[in-house]
Order: sequence, then structure tokens, then C-alpha cells
Amino acid sequence: MKKITFALIFALTINSIHVKADEGMWLVQLIGEKTYADMVKRGLKLSKEQLYSMNKSSIKDAIVIFGGGCTAEVVSKEGLLFTNHHCGYSNIASSSTVDHNYLRDGFWAKTKKEEIVCPGLSVQFLSKIEDVSDSVLARLKDVKPNEITSKLPGILTAMSAKASEGTGNEVRIASFFKGNQFLQFTYVRYKDVRLVGAPPESIGKFGGDTDNWEWPRHTGDFSIFRVYMAADGKPSTDYKAENVPYAPKHFLPVSIKGVNDGDYAMIYGYPGGTNRYETSYGIKLKVDIDNPSLVNLRDVRLKAMHTEMIKDPAIKIQLASSYAGIANYWKFFDGESKQLVKHNVVALKEKEEAAFEAWAKGKSEYDNLFPNVKSAYDAWRPYAKGRMYLNEGILGSPLLGFCASLKMMEDAGAFEKNPTSVKTAYDNFFKGENVTSDKNILALVLKMYHDDVDANQQPEAFFNTLKANYGDLSKDETYQKFANDVFANCMFFNAAKWESFIAKPDTALLHKDPAFATALAFSSNFKSKYNKYYTDFIATTYALNNKYLKGVLEMKKGQALYPDANFTMRLSYGNVKSYNPRDAVHYKEVCTLSGVMEKYKPGDYEFDAPAKLIELINNKDYGQYIDKKTNDVVVSFITTNDITGGNSGSPVLNAKGELIGLAFDGNYEALSHKIAFDGELNRTICLDVRYLLFVVDKLGGAKNIIDELVLSK
Ligand code: ARG
Repeated sequence: MKKITFALIFALTINSIHVKADEGMWLVQLIGEKTYADMVKRGLKLSKEQLYSMNKSSIKDAIVIFGGGCTAEVVSKEGLLFTNHHCGYSNIASSSTVDHNYLRDGFWAKTKKEEIVCPGLSVQFLSKIEDVSDSVLARLKDVKPNEITSKLPGILTAMSAKASEGTGNEVRIASFFKGNQFLQFTYVRYKDVRLVGAPPESIGKFGGDTDNWEWPRHTGDFSIFRVYMAADGKPSTDYKAENVPYAPKHFLPVSIKGVNDGDYAMIYGYPGGTNRYETSYGIKLKVDIDNPSLVNLRDVRLKAMHTEMIKDPAIKIQLASSYAGIANYWKFFDGESKQLVKHNVVALKEKEEAAFEAWAKGKSEYDNLFPNVKSAYDAWRPYAKGRMYLNEGILGSPLLGFCASLKMMEDAGAFEKNPTSVKTAYDNFFKGENVTSDKNILALVLKMYHDDVDANQQPEAFFNTLKANYGDLSKDETYQKFANDVFANCMFFNAAKWESFIAKPDTALLHKDPAFATALAFSSNFKSKYNKYYTDFIATTYALNNKYLKGVLEMKKGQALYPDANFTMRLSYGNVKSYNPRDAVHYKEVCTLSGVMEKYKPGDYEFDAPAKLIELINNKDYGQYIDKKTNDVVVSFITTNDITGGNSGSPVLNAKGELIGLAFDGNYEALSHKIAFDGELNRTICLDVRYLLFVVDKLGGAKNIIDELVLSK
């Protein structure tokens, strides 16, 4: 009996090694011999120098930070960029009007002249990485442990400013292994980036939020841009007609040979954040309080927005991008909690913590580490909900969120020193503001706050006055009447009132404004009474985590360790790979256009598809983009790579460094991935580049784009 069990376990282990997804977001410049050897064993055909080189051109030179939080890649000698549709979404939306609705209908520039300027959009190329740990740690030597979190940002900003002085480059220092290592990154920013192509939303966001974070997936999640430089080759400032297409050091060739289960795949990009060393205490706070609060509040806000968006295409264009951002992480955090519970990640972490404690025994530096972590969480936990309800609820009303930002500008002296910045902030707010949905949001979140937050922690005077003037606090209509009055009487929707205020800002008047006063009632309540617990909590846990990671690095010396994601360039490698999400179910590694037809619902908000696409499918007009194995067009495929938000738009490369896809999502079964990587279930969802080309060519008729690429057939 025993023997059989042992043999069985052995067999299972072998099998699970075989299908293991590939944990690790490696710093490209620090890939060690062991990791590189593993990559080669798995199929990589490139030298380390081709992956990353400081002096010669290498793949890393084709990878950029796109906008504020995505990745894009250069795919032609004229600075053509591929990224996700959801990364270009806000630019596509703000280029759209009801008459030229590129969000709905798509857009294809057939010549460079037709490309659309995108004010505010920029891309950044990484030019240099240096280890500055010694200098940072030296500056922190005399800082008290509980003051590090307040002083560190200033220290890093000063060091970065000094390093970039007079160079025209941007320097940012990032913290690794929870403050045990610091690396300095130099970037060159290009601010003239233009829209070249985008599919209709019914391709680029096919499946909407229902399919978001899920496999199988039939979304054509791509958009195309071009980066320009000044005629002398210098990074351009803003748009200038005389700017010329950027000439890259390296661009990616595109393979249309297709993918097979088991193929090598690697992904370069900018994963935004993971917390793989989160403690069991942190996970409990997340699952019990933080995530459910955020999800409940966003649920209500999203419904209020959606109600207006489906009524009017102009409102849809106006709110689409903000809606998508809120919805994306609403579904993420809901799924994250579910998977954390399902995979019992708390127990997993408790085991790791016990192992650490066993190793740390007798080492006085690590005494009492986890009991202290527990005390820190116990002290903060009673106030956590109030903070979430303030940030995701009250300030989730765009109007009140704007008022809170006005308060910050007031505190920073912006009304006197820089009134134009206030005016610009107002103009941006006004452009994105839909009064009807916001009014409903305000009424709903106020009631939720009143119902759900500990009564002792609420701004008492505010609710007393509300009750006195508007009635029963248990009734929805009380809040609705109040919200109506706030919107009717505040200065922000009354042009005469606002103009006269901004012409000569009188902050006393601002403080009497009903919208501003409401925002302030809640934010001051938190700031004056509870923020101290929060800053204590952050400072204490920073110091403890810093020590924990210092210990982990010592304990695991000699092992290949990767640091948590922090929006610095990483490389992940793995394979194209099918999986079994649950008992009796097998998911194939590719999705095809037949699946689009299966999901297609004419006129549906999420599952409609362009008539032209349906026609192409019916005629099987697939050209050179057909997949011979399936006799269909492969829309997307999955790999075992380790990525997260920020990687969106990242190139998926084959063993030779050719582009085979664009990473655009993670799968639902592994949504706990920021905290614990699941070796069996984790998959990255990638758009097949052949589907991208098919849409550009056959649907968009933009042969000019295809001709610009170097295709490997
Ligand atoms: N989940 C994707 C990501 O975080 C974003 C997908 C956007 N699509 C959507 N339906 N909201 O990268």
C-alpha cells in the first residue's frame, strides 16, 4: 500500500513538473547563467547579448513603456508600435466623436498624414540600469526605521534629479526585495506618438467584461501607434509637423508560422506590481475587508455609469475609458479573493512563515518578526474598511474625487502659485463628467458608507445635518435629495459661478461649496482621526517586510530569485500550453474564429461583431493568416508565462525572438497570481499576431501597415 502510494506521488510529481507554469519575472540585465541555461534547454535560440546588451542593440531596445501603465513594442524601422486595444483605449476614445466614432468603427491610417496626434501620450525607452543600493542604503543609515517610508521617496527623488540633471533623460530609482536593493533606471521619453490603427471595439474588446480575465478568449485586443522623433534624431518634445518617424536600434520581425502546444515563448514588458512575499496576515485583511469593500462599491458605481452609457453614444465615448479601468480591477479583485480562498493561500503562507521562523531561530535580528507583523495588522484592521469606503466610495464620485484633489492643490498653494494648473484640472474633470451618473453614485455611496462603516468612525456632524435637513438616514430618497442639491448648488456646473471663482480664487468661498464641503467632511474625518494608524501601519510593516526579505535572501542564498514586479523591465519565459481548469475539463491552447461565431450575438453590448468580420468568416477569406492545423484563424493562445498588469501589450516572442503574439490578460483560475503564483493553473492570454494582421489587412484594408513589417513565413 505504502509503496504504491509513494510511486503514485512520484508519478504525479513528474507529471506536474512537466506541466508547471513558469514562475519568475526576471530582470533582463541580471539573468544569471542558471536561468539562461534553463531558457536554452527550453528552446531559446538566442545569445544573452541578443536578449539584452548595454552597448549593442538587442531585443530590449524594441520594448517601451506605453503611456502610464502599459507595454508596447517597435515592429518596423519607422517606429511602428503594437500594443493592446485596452492600452490605446483612452486615446482611441478621445480621438472619437459621435460622427467619427473610431471606438465603435475602428480607424486605419492609410498614409502617415492620416495618423492621429495623441496629446499627452508618450513612450519611454530604457537606456541604462545601475545598482545604487549602496548610496541609497548609506543615506538611510541614520533614518529611524519607522521614518523610512516617509523619508525614502524624498531621498530617491533627490538622487534621481541629480542623476538626470542636464541630460534630458528621466531617471527613476526602484526598490527591490522590499527595500533591500535599489536600481536606477534611465529612460528616454518620446512625446509625439500618433494613432495608426485600431479595430472596431466589437473586435478589440469583443466579450467585454464578461470575458475579461477569462480563457477561452476571442478578443482582438490590439491597437497600432507610431513614435516620432525630431528631424535631428533627438527625442521630440510634443507633436511637431516636421518630426520624423523614430528610427529604432532594434525592431521585432513578425512570425506568421503559428504556434504549437509546448513551443517556447518569452515575454518582455513592464509588470506593474506583485506581492509574492505578502504575509498570511496581509492576505486575511485583503480577503476579509479590502477586496470585498472595493468590489461592492465599484459594483454600484459601474451600474450607475453603465445605465447612462447605453442610452447615448456620446456618453459612451465620454465614460468608456474610465468605466473600463474601474471594471477591470473590480472583476480582478473579486476573482483574486475567490482564488486566494480556493487555493488556501493563507495556509501556504503560514507554512512559508513557519519555515522562515525555524531558519531564523537563534538569530536575534529576526526575533519576533511574525508576532510583530500580527500586532501591526491587529492595530490597523479596525480602520481599514473606513479607508476603503472613503477612497473607493465617497471619492469614487468623480465630483467628490475632484474636490479632494482641489483640497490637495489648496494645501500645496496652487491657487496662488499656479492657478492655471487648477484651471487645467477643472477642464479635465469637466470633460469627463457625466452629471446624471455621478449624482446617482454620490447618493448610493453615501448610503453605503452610512450603512457599512463603523458608526463611531463616521463624520458625525455631516450625518446629523443630513438627517436634520433631508430626513431618515435609512431611506434612499434622503441621499438622492441631498445629491440633487449638491449638484444643483455647487459652483462646478454653473459657468458664471466657476468663472468668477477661478478669476479670483477665494478659498473661504470654496470651503462653503456643498460639493467641496461634503468631500472635506469625509476626508478630514479620516485624516484627523485615523490616518495616524494608517501611516503607523505602513511604516511598521515596511520595516518588518524589509527584514523578512533580508532574511529570505540570506536563507535562499545561491537560488535564482526574482524580485517582485515594480514596473521595471522584466523577461518571463515559458511555453505555449493547454491546461485543465477543473475536473474533467481540458482547455486547448488556441482559440479560433469559429469561437467568435459561437459567441456572436448581433446587437449585443459585449458580443456583437462587425458585419465585415462575419462576412470574412463565412467566406473563409483568411489569406496567408490561416492556421493549417485548425483550418481557421487562431485568435489567441495561452502560455505558462508569469506576467501581470502593466505587461499589457507586451510582445510574445518565439525562440528566435520573432513576434508571435501580444500578451493581454491572465486567466480567472489563477487570479491570485499577484500574491501566489500557481504552477499548475497560471496562464497568460496572448493575442495571436496572425489575427492582428488578418484584421489589419482583410478588415481594415491597411496593406500599408502589413508592408511595413518584416514577416517571417
Ligand atoms: N484584464 C486586462 C488587463 O488587465 C484588461 C482587459 C480590458 N478589457 C476589459 N473588458 N475591461 O490587462
